[in-house]
Amino acid sequence: MTDSRILLVTPHMSGLEEEYVREAFRTNWVAPLGPHLDAFEKEFCETVGCGHAAALSSGTAALHLSLLLLGIKAGDEVICSDLTFSASANVIVYERAAPVFIDSDRETWNMDPNLLEQELKSCAAKNKLPKAVILVHLYGQSADIDPVLELCNQYEIPLIEDAAESLGATYNGRSTGTCGKFGIFSFNGNKIITTSGGGMIVSDDEKLIEKAKFFSTQARDPAPHYEHSTIGYNYRMSNVLAGIGRAQLKVLDERIEQKRRIFEFCEKAFEDEPGIEFMPEATYGRSTRWLTCILINPERFGATREDVRLHLGKNNIEARPLWKPMHLQPVFSGCRCRGGEVSEDLFARGLCLPSGTNLKHEELERVASAVLSTPRK
Ligand SMILES: Cc1ncc(COP(=O)(O)O)c(C=O)c1O
Repeated sequence: MTDSRILLVTPHMSGLEEEYVREAFRTNWVAPLGPHLDAFEKEFCETVGCGHAAALSSGTAALHLSLLLLGIKAGDEVICSDLTFSASANVIVYERAAPVFIDSDRETWNMDPNLLEQELKSCAAKNKLPKAVILVHLYGQSADIDPVLELCNQYEIPLIEDAAESLGATYNGRSTGTCGKFGIFSFNGNKIITTSGGGMIVSDDEKLIEKAKFFSTQARDPAPHYEHSTIGYNYRMSNVLAGIGRAQLKVLDERIEQKRRIFEFCEKAFEDEPGIEFMPEATYGRSTRWLTCILINPERFGATREDVRLHLGKNNIEARPLWKPMHLQPVFSGCRCRGGEVSEDLFARGLCLPSGTNLKHEELERVASAVLSTPRK
């Protein structure tokens, strides 16, 4: 008999979700508005420590709205982390603006503030400053926010934090997503908590979040009939899914602990392997370890990242390379990128291991022994 498949991550329900969903059905709030939606936004604000929030249909929708609310338009430049999922940069192109990518810092895997500084200096010299910075917090770890924020303040450029992967992570005690003009989060099925699909945009500016709600519900002007003076979007979260979100939010702390334990398990399992390194944890914050990410040194380990990934596949275990940097993506080939060597190296050697909080101990042991049994030269 073959072993059952181990996936990278799967949704992990707390058991409370069904009661919240039943409540939505009982009261017939099966709509993109209702008491769960209001409560989810309020409880989310309390959890991350921000002023205002609007629950949306996805993290991508939240990113898109953040650019719309900043008035990004065709021809503008928007800075974005190079090592990320494509959604972070796609939204820039939705508005016909141009992404400019910044490489990662080797210590954090997130945007290198020194490279950002160089880029902004060169933009200022050309008299064409970017209209926003999208700072991604990768794999559950906060980027180094303060130096980025200082640069943004110095050049008067709004900061958008893409915290899709980092709900629950902290930076000097603050939650990621709460330091910029906007923060965005994702509740996609692979995230630390999920609503099957969904997202949140947060800000301390109440008016901007009111506008986000307006744009995400088709931009209806106040009138008894349907009156529109701006283009709107159908981006609001449903009250049913907000019910799932409320139940998931209650177990966020537990999920963070479980994720960190998975990471620690792998660290211990590979401690005698000099060819395997782990994503470093920056001293300024606490990572959620959303995914356990490793780097394989092929000379030391005797096998490449791809050898390991394929060997895991043969053992019915899903693992994925780290994000392919945006500057290497065919769709962004014409875009400027500052640096790029670090993200290229991380992509070449990096692997995300199964990190589902519902994995059994035996399954984690299977993952670790499959990594170690990869045929080596
Ligand atoms: C860094 C990053 N940004 C944005 C998104 C988009 O979120 P969603 O899938 O909810 O649209 C994701 C992942 O899904 C992501 O990993």
